[in-house]
Amino acid sequence: MALLVESVGKRFYEKHRGEFMACQDISFAVSDGEIFGLLGPNGAGKTTTLRIIATILTATTGKATLDGVDVFADSHKARAMMGFLSSSTGLYDRLTPAEILHYFGRLCGLTEAEVKARTAQLAQSLDFEKYVNVRCAGLSQGTRQKVSIARAIVHNPKLMILDEPSTGLDVLATQSMHDFILAAKAQEKAILLSTHSMDEAEKLCDRIGIINDGKLLAVGTIDELRAVTGKSRLEDVFVTLVRA
Ligand SMILES: Nc1ncnc2c1ncn2[C@@H]1O[C@H](COP(=O)(O)OP(=O)(O)OP(=O)(O)O)[C@@H](O)[C@H]1O
Ligand SMILES: [Mg+2]
Repeated sequence: MALLVESVGKRFYEKHRGEFMACQDISFAVSDGEIFGLLGPNGAGKTTTLRIIATILTATTGKATLDGVDVFADSHKARAMMGFLSSSTGLYDRLTPAEILHYFGRLCGLTEAEVKARTAQLAQSLDFEKYVNVRCAGLSQGTRQKVSIARAIVHNPKLMILDEPSTGLDVLATQSMHDFILAAKAQEKAILLSTHSMDEAEKLCDRIGIINDGKLLAVGTIDELRAVTGKSRLEDVFVTLVRA
């Protein structure tokens, strides 16, 4: 197993709600070459879970290991092995994609030559070559999202954590995003993503975790989840589990 998540939970406090668990007792694993999807309604705890694994948030409970590295205790080392696309990633409007990838690539310890090669490779595989020297302020949402992914994985990490990677993308941009994620899988990357799209989950994910109200309700392949619920369409499987 590449990523092992064990009993992870996060307690938040908000004035109007008091203390509550945004996620609790979340356990799952993602192997090399596997795409694992978290599926759940708004506020279910997907982003919180992903942010904890990406070490942006500290966990209240639980443990995560990535290739044996303790993600929370040895977060510096773990971060070098992962890339995180947050749903609110911003880009510097005054910089071009090439400049952003140069900046983050160098921050991650790549040499000038490595940055150059990696930029060319990512621009080609994510299909934004035409825009590589255009300031981000002038780019479409789809291209910005592609550049955000490229930025997140410029250091070629073994684990990609993608929070709703195709939200807001048109059909063509979604397709090229999917092709990119499947190519990463073929290169034995471990991929953990969240999505609201049943089609996306069905097309990409080897296994799915259904999350609601902070709790992981079921984990399995789509066929396993079908067998558990007795439903065939993923949408019906999802609704059956979430409403149970
Ligand atoms: N920093 C925070 N402080 C307090 N509460 C928070 C914080 N971040 C998230 N929450 C709450 O935790 C719960 C889970 O939120 P989270 O963003 O993880 O859900 P989500 O599954 O990603 O939802 P969506 O599909 O809308 O993106 C929600 O009730 C949210 O309001
Ligand atoms: Mg979210």
